Amino acid sequence: MPKLFIKTFGCQMNVYDSARMRDALSVHGFKETEEPDKADVILVNTCHIREKASEKLFSELGRLAQLKKKNALVVVAGCVVQADGAEILRRSKLIDIAVGPQNYHQLPELIAKYNRKNGRVIQADFPAESKFDYLPDPQKSSAAAFLAVQEGCDHFCSYCVVPYTRGCEYSRPMKEIVAEAKALVKAGAKEIMLLGQNVNGWHGDEGKDLGDVIREVAKIRGLKRIRYTTSYPSEMTQNLIDAHKDTPKLMPYIHLPIQSGNDRVLKAMNRQYTVKEYEKIVAKFRKVRPDIAISSDFIVGFPGETEAEFEDTLRLVERVGYASSYSFKFSARPGTPASLMKNQIPEDVKTKRLMKLQALLLKQQKAFNEATVGKEFDVLLTEKGKVRGQLVGYSPYLQGTVVKAPVKMLGEIVRVKVTGASATALKGEIVK
Ligand code: SAH
Ligand code: SF4
Ligand code: F3S
Repeated sequence: MPKLFIKTFGCQMNVYDSARMRDALSVHGFKETEEPDKADVILVNTCHIREKASEKLFSELGRLAQLKKKNALVVVAGCVVQADGAEILRRSKLIDIAVGPQNYHQLPELIAKYNRKNGRVIQADFPAESKFDYLPDPQKSSAAAFLAVQEGCDHFCSYCVVPYTRGCEYSRPMKEIVAEAKALVKAGAKEIMLLGQNVNGWHGDEGKDLGDVIREVAKIRGLKRIRYTTSYPSEMTQNLIDAHKDTPKLMPYIHLPIQSGNDRVLKAMNRQYTVKEYEKIVAKFRKVRPDIAISSDFIVGFPGETEAEFEDTLRLVERVGYASSYSFKFSARPGTPASLMKNQIPEDVKTKRLMKLQALLLKQQKAFNEATVGKEFDVLLTEKGKVRGQLVGYSPYLQGTVVKAPVKMLGEIVRVKVTGASATALKGEIVK
C-alpha cells in the first residue's frame, strides 16, 4: 500500500481540505503515515495569508528534502499554489505536482498519471465543476470534525489575498451539507464545525440562511455539538443569532473578527461596518445568550494607522471583553490594494502595537478562564495531553481543558468541574 504524509499550514479550511485529500487518496489505496521518511507521496497544504505563512512552505520543503525517500512524489496544495504556483515551482525543484484549492479532487488522477519525464504539473484554474461533486464521502473523522459549507469571499478587504486564492463565494446546498454531516457522524464525529471564509454569508438554498443549516444539522442523532466560523459582522442575521437561543447543540461561542476599533481604518480596510454597528451585533448575541464567548481577529499597523487610531482598538477591546483572540501585524501581500498604500507603518511600531494589544487580550482571556473555575460543564475529549494519563478537550466556550483520563476515553464527552485556569487553558476533574 502506498503511504501518504500530509503537512498542513493555515486555517481550518485547510485542515478540512487536507482531510478530503486524504480521503480521496485513501479510496485509491493510500494509507496515511506520520513519518515523512516512509511516505511515497508527500503533500504540503499551504497558506498565503501573511508573508510568514507563505514562507513556511520553503522551510518545510527544506526539511523534507533531507528526509524523504528518493522517489517520493512531492505535492504542494493550497493557497500559495493558487496565488503563486508557477513561482514556487521555479523556487523549488523538489515539487512534482502543484494543485490549487479548487482542483484537489483531481489529485488521484494527477498522481496516477504523473511521469517525471513529462515534466512537473500545475493545476490551479477555477474549474466550472465543483470539487464537492467529485470527492468521496468522509472516510475517517476525528471527534471534532470540520465541514466546509461555504467557500471563497466576495468582500475584498484591501489587505487580504483570500478572494484571489479561494475565488468567489460558493455555498453548498443544504442537502449535500446534511449528507456529509451524517457521514462524519457515522465516522465518529461528535462535534462539527461548519466552515466558510464568510460562513454566515451562506446562501445555498433559496430563502434560507446559516441558522437554518444549523437547525437542520442539529437533527442528526449522535451529533452532540455544532460550531461555525468565520462570520462577517455585517452579514449576521437575526435568524442565526436566534439559533443560539433555540438550538441547544449550538455552542455558546462566536468568532466575530472586527480587525480594528477605528472607523477610518475599517473604511480603508474596506470592511463594511462601523465600530458602533459591530458592538450592536455583539449586544444582540449577548441578549439571546448572556454567557456567549466572543472572539475576534485584529490587524495592527494597517497603512496610515495612527497611534490614536490604534488606541481606539484597545478601547474597543476593553468595551467588548473577548474570551480569546488572534492578532497580527499587517503584512503587505502582493496584489492587494493595501500593499500599495502610502504610509506603511514601520516594523518596530507594528511590533510595539501588537505587544500592547496582545497583553490586553491575554489579560481578558485569563479573566474569562478564571471566571469558569468552580463551574461544571461538558468537555469533548479530543487529544492526548502532554503528560501521560492526561487528555485534553474543549469546553462549550472552546477553552482547552486538561483532565486526568485514560486514553480509551478519547472522543467522549464528559462532565468536568473546573479546578484551575491560566490564560491559555483550564484544568479540571471529571465528575461522576
Ligand atoms: N474571513 C475571515 C478571515 C480570514 S483570514 C474574516 O474576514 O474575518 C484570518 C485573519 O487573518 C483575518 O481575520 C485577519 O485578521 C488576518 N489577515 C488577513 N490578511 C492579513 C494581512 N495581509 N496581514 C495581517 N493579517 C491578515
Ligand atoms: Fe479576507 Fe475580508 Fe474575505 Fe475575510 S472577509 S476572507 S479578511 S477579504
Ligand atoms: Fe491561508 Fe488560504 Fe486559509 S490563505 S488562511 S489557507 S484560506
